[in-house]
Amino acid sequence: MAAQLITNIQLLVNTRQQNELLRGKELAGLPCIENAYLVLEDGVIVDFGRMDTIPHLTFNPSHSIDASRQFILPAWCDSHTHLIFAASREEEFVDKIRGMSYADIAARGGGILNSAKKINLASEDELFNLAWKRLEEVTRLGTGAIEIKSGYGLSVEGELKMLRVIKKLKERSALCIKSTFLGAHAYPLEYKEDHQGYIDLIINDMLPVIANEKLADYIDVFCETGFFSPGETEMICRAGMQYGLKSKLHINQLHSIGGIEVGLKLNAVSLDHLENLTESDLKLLGGLEAAPPNGGGGLERATICTLLPTAAFFLDQPFPPARKLIDAGSALALASDFNPGTSPSGNMNLVVAMGCIGMKMLPEEAINAATINGAYAMELQDEVGSIMIGKKANLILTKSIPSLAYLPYSFGTNLIDKVMVNGEFV
Ligand code: NIG
Ligand code: FE
Repeated sequence: MAAQLITNIQLLVNTRQQNELLRGKELAGLPCIENAYLVLEDGVIVDFGRMDTIPHLTFNPSHSIDASRQFILPAWCDSHTHLIFAASREEEFVDKIRGMSYADIAARGGGILNSAKKINLASEDELFNLAWKRLEEVTRLGTGAIEIKSGYGLSVEGELKMLRVIKKLKERSALCIKSTFLGAHAYPLEYKEDHQGYIDLIINDMLPVIANEKLADYIDVFCETGFFSPGETEMICRAGMQYGLKSKLHINQLHSIGGIEVGLKLNAVSLDHLENLTESDLKLLGGLEAAPPNGGGGLERATICTLLPTAAFFLDQPFPPARKLIDAGSALALASDFNPGTSPSGNMNLVVAMGCIGMKMLPEEAINAATINGAYAMELQDEVGSIMIGKKANLILTKSIPSLAYLPYSFGTNLIDKVMVNGEFV
């Protein structure tokens, strides 16, 4: 593929000269260029700027695209999904409508355990094909980078099968994909009374194979009442760290039980969910400022707070307190949590809209959280997440819209005209 030139872009969104994780007030700054051009070479951004400064090209672009009346954004970076699952769970959705809670359903062996039964019955090929379709679907909705977790196997074979599916997706898909091992998603029934037995299985039978076959980039634990305690979470993450796996954790989704302290102590890449935060939790998360340049004292404070508004919406829970976190100076990312139990949608456009509608994020804040900060939450900031020279041309080209705020405002309407991954239209 040679060079491509895109001209007359009505608004080129999130244009940056350098990478920076955005915290607190910085989230509201979304640099854009009106009437812009963009030059791509071999799927990479090599130049951009205002149309009146367009350089005389020394090459003959193989493609010229006129983007009059279009906005161009970096593709969404969805840093938290459970995209591999064997079956949907709408029967539980109806039970919830009839009044059961997520915890009630889990306690009767539904929820995660329901998905685990089905994963263990499905073949690797079946799971791959289902996941591939979902990946295609979210790509058309503008996602250009994605994290995918295991966690519905809950057995050595099941977890390894899920991770091998993710590995195959990485090999065959043009998207940037990160893989997270979530063996500690729930205790399988046979280990309900023997937590240490299951933890030993994770540490002794799963992690060494995962490391050996390079099946995961991160480790995750569902730290929650009735699932994994903070102490268990720490033990599992520390074992993962021995193999070079950093943590990305499910924390404070239903209760505040001390997971934040553990996550910060472990220097987690991200703490995800955070629907239920006490005042002291907020203080801890508010301290997530850049480490002092001299490295003196304190935590290495790069942990990102990843909020998943469609999961809170689907469970009819209060939304995470995004405004309080922003006021406290935290770095926020937004992700879909795509999974069959709490967020059966991987639509990041909806996530951005819910960030604005439900959590009172400004459109600029929500877009930054779903692009550059999402990239940081997968450590993919050098490849994706903004319009910057050297990054991949993973782009969203919108239909004609009057303003950027129109995107979350007109939630539920598909405003995407085309999506580009590595410089190619999907
Ligand atoms: O992020 N809460 C933990 N894990 C998922 C839901 C898993 C499920 O219900 O299948 C989540 O919400
Ligand atoms: Fe999740």
